[in-house]
Amino acid sequence: TIEAGTKMIQNARQKQYAIGAFNTNNLEWTQAILRTAQAEQAPTLVAVSMGAVKYMGGFKVVANLIRNLHDAMSITVPIAIHLDHGTFEGAKAAIEAGFTSVMFDGSDLPVEENLTKTREIVALAHEKGVSVEAEVGSIGGEEDGVIGAGEIAPIEDVRAMVATGIDFLAAGIGNIHGAYPDNWQGLNLEHLKDIAVAANEVAGHEMPIVLHGGSGIPDDHINAAIKLGVAKVNVNTEAQLAFHQAIRDYVLSDQDLIGKNYDPRKFLAPGVAAIESALDERIKVFGSGHQA
Ligand code: G3H
Ligand code: ZN
Repeated sequence: TIEAGTKMIQNARQKQYAIGAFNTNNLEWTQAILRTAQAEQAPTLVAVSMGAVKYMGGFKVVANLIRNLHDAMSITVPIAIHLDHGTFEGAKAAIEAGFTSVMFDGSDLPVEENLTKTREIVALAHEKGVSVEAEVGSIGGEEDGVIGAGEIAPIEDVRAMVATGIDFLAAGIGNIHGAYPDNWQGLNLEHLKDIAVAANEVAGHEMPIVLHGGSGIPDDHINAAIKLGVAKVNVNTEAQLAFHQAIRDYVLSDQDLIGKNYDPRKFLAPGVAAIESALDERIKVFGSGHQA
């Protein structure tokens, strides 16, 4: 079922597991995400960055691709079509095009402007039953040209952002996009605890927190974060690494490459299988399997 992210993430928050938000890039990648979600009976967000939207041909193409694959593959688990790190214009275009969930990422804007624009997106989105994620503080590192300073989210910003009416909150707690450096300090779980308390208080219910930069976070950190209120974990780099490595191994090991296996349906297959096993493993850690 294609639906907003609200219900599945609320359920996860209440039962203390996390929904995976997995970034896609193309047809095969989307099939891999949907197939894994269905096999694990795991409600899932298929996430698309602004860069991936451009790469894949636009918001309509992406929304229709995911919807059509969902139908053709007889997917029955809850699936959201989610814009990841959207700009203001991007979030509006995604809502128009039939996305069921959007992240408006105004974390690089002055806080007041981030709040005002988030309010506007919330109004447009909720009118159509679309869920909204926004970000305070910032996620470190770089993803698809989106560069973050890695600022820990101030509690007053958490309060103000939750008051805009968003459905889930991304907050910087020392998490980083891409690989984690050797000297990484770990997630700031003490601060996550304070964020969750403040967010719940303002929301009047358990506010789901989103953990970005899911690739490379040790499983025990993820489990600790889930206990403290994280109900959505974003994973991108891990699947990219798995895809790349598997195709690279395959191509380099195939002596008859030029002769036989230039068919993309053959040489992409090991990459697709590698995405599936990487995501399958994440779903097991997040506990979102058999929750559909
Ligand atoms: O928004 C997407 C995620 O935050 C991805 O982070 O590439 O480190 O898994 P990651
Ligand atoms: Zn992110």
